[in-house]
Amino acid sequence: EKGGYDHFMLKEIYEQPKSIADCLRGRLDAKSGRLVLGGLRDYMNKFQNAERIIITACGTSWHAGLVAEYLFEEFARVPVEVEYASEFRYRNPVVGEKDFVIAISQSGETADTLAAIELAKSKGATIFGVCNVVGSSIPRTTHAGSYTHAGPEIGVASTKAFTAQISVLAMMALKLGYQRGTLPESKYIQLLHELEAIPGKVEQALKTNDAIKYIAEEYKNVRNALYLGRGYNFPVALEGALKLKEISYIHAEGYPAAEMKHGPIALIDEEMPVFFIATKDSSYEKVVSNIQEVKARKGKVIAVVTEGDTQVKAIADHVIEVPATHEAFAPLVAVVPLQLLSYHIAVMRGCNVDQPRNLAKSVTVE
Ligand code: M6R
Repeated sequence: EKGGYDHFMLKEIYEQPKSIADCLRGRLDAKSGRLVLGGLRDYMNKFQNAERIIITACGTSWHAGLVAEYLFEEFARVPVEVEYASEFRYRNPVVGEKDFVIAISQSGETADTLAAIELAKSKGATIFGVCNVVGSSIPRTTHAGSYTHAGPEIGVASTKAFTAQISVLAMMALKLGYQRGTLPESKYIQLLHELEAIPGKVEQALKTNDAIKYIAEEYKNVRNALYLGRGYNFPVALEGALKLKEISYIHAEGYPAAEMKHGPIALIDEEMPVFFIATKDSSYEKVVSNIQEVKARKGKVIAVVTEGDTQVKAIADHVIEVPATHEAFAPLVAVVPLQLLSYHIAVMRGCNVDQPRNLAKSVTVE
């Protein structure tokens, strides 16, 4: 049932071109400008008139929520807050009828996320679920929702669920921006085309596998790692670090690249690998400066870059090239090499990739 792969995680990483396409199928048709999310239909009014969007989730799903914050704010100009469900539920949060709450969960069973939903619901908010497991507890508790349709995810490390979550959230943001008039039609159509092209670009990104194995071999024995990115790629840095720590047990931290000089830079020496997500986007030049700062302190730089990049290539120790896309969708492509990297490092270290120690696939206790 692993379909010829050694582990479920690797199978699920490789399924992403298909799982993202499955997620978009029947919902998005760029040519005709069609974008329909069945679950939104009855709640479009609430969504459109919401004064604020609150996103609540845990772990990798929370990282998808962070990407969504950038998407919703950029395209729909609605204020967004992204909350760890475990903090939200216990903090007596300010939440009410004008809030549209999006709960993200692969399993649909995460105890803290469920409790956060119950709380927001009791205060009158509209609750929308973005879940993978059909018929699980969260979709049964929410007012409405959209399934991610990524198929069963068995590996404890979430991979294809993450990219499917971002795909649903991206569709929601484009729809909302278009309906609210903050996203002009021509730009909207262009973005629909970009999103539709993502499965093919993820397929391309998977071809970095051999290069990544080589990098994994070189860094498999490190004790610490830093992951840095800006803008849409900041949550990708967090996700890259989480993937590495949970399956290979290497201590890793993700940061917005600019925060480096507020502390983490002290960690950098010739032993420290720093993984940059440095794709061509509006913060590219700033990221290049951050890479130079790391090199000046003799850190090792491994960077995910856009195909054809020359600037980062000239200074980094290793680069991994992924296809160009609109920066809003870069996380869908840029996360793939980081998933592969964690996978290979964990395998080389003899770790139980699909069932890392101390972790469960769904966290049904708080
Ligand atoms: O099923 P959920 O998406 O609600 O799970 C949330 C987290 O427990 C989950 O993403 C966890 O962080 C994963 N092990 C990450 O790979």
